[in-house]
Amino acid sequence: MRKQIAAANWKMNLTFQQGEKLLDDILYENIILASHQYAIFAVPYPYLLMTRSEVDNAKNYHAAAQNCYHKKSGAYTGEVSAEIIHSIGVQYCVIGHSERREYFSETNAQLADKLNLCLDNYITPIFCCGEPLAIREAGTQNEFVAIQLKESLFHLPAEKIKDIVIAYEPIWAIGTGKTATTEQAQEIHAYLRSVLADQYGADIASQISILYGGSVKANNAKELFSCPDVDGGLVGGASLVATDFIEIIKALK
Ligand code: PGA
Repeated sequence: MRKQIAAANWKMNLTFQQGEKLLDDILYENIILASHQYAIFAVPYPYLLMTRSEVDNAKNYHAAAQNCYHKKSGAYTGEVSAEIIHSIGVQYCVIGHSERREYFSETNAQLADKLNLCLDNYITPIFCCGEPLAIREAGTQNEFVAIQLKESLFHLPAEKIKDIVIAYEPIWAIGTGKTATTEQAQEIHAYLRSVLADQYGADIASQISILYGGSVKANNAKELFSCPDVDGGLVGGASLVATDFIEIIKALK
């Protein structure tokens, strides 16, 4: 079975102490994950080491960075490279979140560079894609996300594409309380998988986890994750509340 993943995205929230308590509360629940299930915490950079050591003894629990820079190293004050992230033992990194694309003008080409740097440094990228409301209303979301995949991913050879995770996050559903219906989620996830299959073959496409993001909550996670092509979620708001995120981890297939 493909990896099923509950990924928390704390964004720029919580103090260090609040973050530590949140992790403690979640880990205290002692949810035993099956070998194909993962719980991942994308935390602010200064919390990565703490998070990594908190989850170290819990099987299939991992820390993730929320971003990395698109250059290998050098005079880029304030930026953090994939190599730096790898050097503290962190194995996941969110790439191309819509907030980074929008507020920091990240382009598909820069995201391709970030993916390469992650993979060169043994980091699994969680690559985000998804359309804004105007595109959904125009009904051209498939074309829109296909271009995001093509321009950022399709330079990768088959043996590397298997090492990435995709998160489909319709921008109109992020932080709005508006969730895609299970039909909408399944439809576009299946479409994304078909785009991957056209490029890399059905066998490889069937091995790539595609997470849904956008107002995943404790009370809708099970239904969303039950879709055959939805392999878990990337969760913002509800990942900041221990009891909610616990339910979301438990909702994994
Ligand atoms: P949300 O955020 O769950 O608060 O909608 C999801 C995300 O941006 O990853």
